[in-house]
Amino acid sequence: MSQPFYLTTAISYVNAKPHVGHAYEFIVSDAICRYRRMQGRPVFFLSGVDEHSATVEKAAEEAGQHPRDYCDYMAEVFLNLHRLTGSSLSDFIRTSEPRHHDTTKELLRRAYAKGDIYKGHYEGWYCFSCEAFYLADDLLDGELCPVHKKKAEWRQEENYFFRLSRYAEAIKRHFEEHPDFNVPVMYRNEMLALLDRGLQDISISRSTTRWGITLPWDESNVSYVWFDALSNYLTGVGFLKDEALFNTYWPADVHVIGKDINRFHSVLWPAMLMSCDIALPKMVLVHGFVYHKGEKMSKTIGNIVDPVSLIEQYGRDPLRYFLLREIAFGQDGNYSEDALINRYNADLANDLGNLFSRVLAMIKKYREQRVPRTAGIDGAFQEVISKIRRAYVESMEQYAPHLALGAVWDLVSKANDYVQKQEPWALAKDPNKKDDLDRVLLNLAEALRAVAVMIHPFMPGTSEEMLKRLGFPLDGGFPLLKDLEHAGLCAGNTIDVGASLFPRIDKTK
Ligand code: MSP
Repeated sequence: MSQPFYLTTAISYVNAKPHVGHAYEFIVSDAICRYRRMQGRPVFFLSGVDEHSATVEKAAEEAGQHPRDYCDYMAEVFLNLHRLTGSSLSDFIRTSEPRHHDTTKELLRRAYAKGDIYKGHYEGWYCFSCEAFYLADDLLDGELCPVHKKKAEWRQEENYFFRLSRYAEAIKRHFEEHPDFNVPVMYRNEMLALLDRGLQDISISRSTTRWGITLPWDESNVSYVWFDALSNYLTGVGFLKDEALFNTYWPADVHVIGKDINRFHSVLWPAMLMSCDIALPKMVLVHGFVYHKGEKMSKTIGNIVDPVSLIEQYGRDPLRYFLLREIAFGQDGNYSEDALINRYNADLANDLGNLFSRVLAMIKKYREQRVPRTAGIDGAFQEVISKIRRAYVESMEQYAPHLALGAVWDLVSKANDYVQKQEPWALAKDPNKKDDLDRVLLNLAEALRAVAVMIHPFMPGTSEEMLKRLGFPLDGGFPLLKDLEHAGLCAGNTIDVGASLFPRIDKTK
């Protein structure tokens, strides 16, 4: 059997509605999962919501609701965004669920038994929005949090601590022995620098709130934020509950996260797992931030981009395409409506949409809607398709979806050139060129099949529609990459021209 693949996203805080940054993380993660399914691998794709935090408690209070009611509502809002963005989720976890309480308590119990949790007193710089302490060195001038640029506060606490400091050396060794543990490399380097500076123990409980998971040995404290958040990745694949599922999917292959929470995933999480004698995940894959026209999105500026309205206006696949193509994975990227419309019109309506309509219209007109089966394959053109398929696979293996899409569009443009060069309309006028026309049409249909399969991770709806019109109904299944190793599968298929895939957007309206 093919090797199972387990991918997680960060679980979102539910203190505010999701923005386009959340949508980006869902979409990137979904694209990777779909690609793995196209390789024939069994995939478990987990996302969810992080409900126990002070910011969530505050948001519930402001909404005049009990945190539970507030979270019920917000969990649905996030799940709905997954539906709208097309996430092929296997499960959606809420940290307030009993199954997750059991996991967190077990981890706390194990770490406590190891002597890695102790009661202590702590003072330090605390960022309320990060829900984390910072060293004075980490803060920007004016004691500002490096992520939120808000003033950190000096806090004193009496609660339980996790001996993170004990694991600094072991984690460093793990980084050295597993160069792919934390990628891309710039984020790995940041973590190595942090490890070099040494680690401080971290506070993991609060006695001031009841909204959370109580510590097994001290009911007056609840677990705080990261301990009960990171452990969701275990709960999601049946930790303590479903041994077969857990053994199939753990350790996770990829944790997809944004750059602001790398240290929790690449440093704290491995330490927790080491303390609890659980295998470490294989990769923490870090993406950059999506900005709005170069600016961080914030309520105060009023520039938050709502992904739901973008999907309503431009459609799911165009938004997916835009984000995956426009943002070089790992780096920060920008959203603007103008850039989205430009890409839509140039890449989707013009390059891909026109090619598809044109080729199908010619097959309809010249060959009674059937892809010719007789004249054989054009070796040189097939080699172009194979080469691009290899570049695509290589980019996907390196988690560079923007480059994979670049490769696919290279094929789209080569197919457009092929049409121009071969002039099928001229061949159609000459009865002696019947075989040539057959060959050209078959090759173009094959190029479109390759494009349709390769865009599946990025634009699943468009991929399915294209394949259906080319005579390969998927019936809800996934296309398989290995089918691209066989040339000529379109031959003899009845095609369906249908409506334009991407009608042009008129910017003036
Ligand atoms: N609850 C924690 C994660 C716990 S994981 C065990 C959290 N939640 S969050 O809602 O603030 O962020 C969820 C994810 O969205 C994180 O990976 C975060 O980096 C990402 N993003 C938040 N803002 C973003 C952008 N503007 N752009 C891209 N991703 C961003 O952190």
